[in-house]
Amino acid sequence: MRPDAIELRSVSRRYGTADGSVSALEGVSLAFGAGTFTAVMGPSGSGKSTLLQCAAGLDRPTSGSVRLGETELTALSERRLTLLRRKRIGFVFQAFNLLPSLTAAQNVALPLRLAGRRPRRAEVREALRRVGLAERAGHRPSELSGGQQQRVALARALITRPEVLFGDEPTGALDSVTGREVLALLRGMVDAEGRTVVMVTHDPVAASYADRVVFLVDGRVHGELAGASAGEIAARTAGLETSGAEAVPC
Ligand SMILES: Nc1ncnc2c1ncn2[C@@H]1O[C@H](COP(=O)(O)OP(=O)(O)O)[C@@H](O)[C@H]1O
Ligand SMILES: [Mg+2]
Repeated sequence: MRPDAIELRSVSRRYGTADGSVSALEGVSLAFGAGTFTAVMGPSGSGKSTLLQCAAGLDRPTSGSVRLGETELTALSERRLTLLRRKRIGFVFQAFNLLPSLTAAQNVALPLRLAGRRPRRAEVREALRRVGLAERAGHRPSELSGGQQQRVALARALITRPEVLFGDEPTGALDSVTGREVLALLRGMVDAEGRTVVMVTHDPVAASYADRVVFLVDGRVHGELAGASAGEIAARTAGLETSGAEAVPC
């Protein structure tokens, strides 16, 4: 059996608000095997982003533990957690989050600079080549299409060769054709490079690129599907929206 790249044990996350607290995650236990591609789905507000941020060390659970390989994230100081994140974790967002004043190559080189390394030109070129953008190295984000910007964001997330790549609706702002290009790249990173990918999505077609789909409802795991088609996933999510609504106490 392959080792787990990430394991969450009884993870809960509560947010304090003006009128009390909101429970975003409640006792979530999940493992993501090394070299696998998992999609996370669920209704809006079900805790998908919170799950990803806790798993990626961008947020801390209120209780429970998160392990990356052999490292217990919840035990790390802020500083060590930041260093670990820079080295071992990649994250891509729906809104790309590229720096507008930097070129594609400068954006891709940024994580290496943050890690105190001097980026080699060849290494930045190679990262852009892998996402099919070698010719766009000198372009700024505003000179690139949405799909190209997301591919720059992917190259930036991958330049440090992270063990796990997280995506929070990485194709949510893309049309279906460019979305599929990004999904095919993610799939290739898992198949050809053995990387681990965990991606939140609303789209059953996007989720069907994954090996496994985990469903969240009201901050809890509500079952999963393995090797499912887009049609099977769509049927399951349609049921979830209803069961999620029924679960709300009245
Ligand atoms: N920073 C925050 N402060 C207060 N509540 C939050 C915060 N972030 C998320 N929540 C709440 O936690 C729940 C889960 O949110 P989120 O993880 O963003 O869900 P999803 O990504 O599935 O839409 C929601 O009820 C949301 O309102
Ligand atoms: Mg979200």
